Amino acid sequence: MRIGKKWLATLALTVGVGLMVSACGSGGGQASGGQQASNGGSGAGTTEKVYVVGTDAAYPPFEKMEADKITGFDIDVIQAVADAAGIKIEVKNTGWDPLFDGIDKGNVDMGISAVTITDERKQKYDFSEPYFDANQLILLPEDSTVTKLSELKGKKIGVQSATTGEQVVKKTFGDTYEGIKGYDDTPSAVDDFFIGRVDAVVADNAVLQDYAKKIKDKKFKLVKDDSFEVEHYGIIVKKGNTELLDKINQGMKTIKENGKLKEINEKYFGQ
Ligand code: ARG
Repeated sequence: MRIGKKWLATLALTVGVGLMVSACGSGGGQASGGQQASNGGSGAGTTEKVYVVGTDAAYPPFEKMEADKITGFDIDVIQAVADAAGIKIEVKNTGWDPLFDGIDKGNVDMGISAVTITDERKQKYDFSEPYFDANQLILLPEDSTVTKLSELKGKKIGVQSATTGEQVVKKTFGDTYEGIKGYDDTPSAVDDFFIGRVDAVVADNAVLQDYAKKIKDKKFKLVKDDSFEVEHYGIIVKKGNTELLDKINQGMKTIKENGKLKEINEKYFGQ
């Protein structure tokens, strides 16, 4: 009887220590770049997943290249979400279209790129809970009298291809509108506006406002069409990747509740 108890106690201790060791083993890995990071631990072959995050880093203040580093609002958000969810990430500047392709092909795990949650995209991708509200704006010459998108009929309008900016222009003038000029990235559309190749640009408010803040001597204005609907940005994952989406949403919930998201907002947009 006494021996039995002692044996059980020893067994419990052994199992307990064993569990502690393996818990440390799986949690202590450091990402060192690449898709999988070895934890360099006991040699048991445990690896920690490093999730690849795609973004189109030409969309300040949400994402931009600063020297060789990707920075911006979205990058702070995804890092905070990852930290709160206890996952490791590596952010890559994929560009806009390749971001979606990468998710389709599986070499990108998630995307954060000021991506508006739309019904059309929801058929193909899963979105996290929203983290930012936006709307389209029209970039126009300072002396323009235009107050609505429809008044630009016949004019050349620059948009980033496959964005909601393109969508609202198509919605107003039809899918085959000849005046629409699509660009791979938004800065190219804005550049063409300033050299007079397009008459207007339609893009997300905070991005155009960022130009307005930076380029003080240029003569332009931003106009909001009342028909433009409110948009919500979300993080995208491959459809059905609920395991990752749950982690992201858990992290998102945490940073909404603990004030971290608000802090990031204030860092980029003030009060
Ligand atoms: N919010 C718009 C959309 O989802 C534009 C996003 C473009 N983002 C970017 N990083 N270029 O269609």
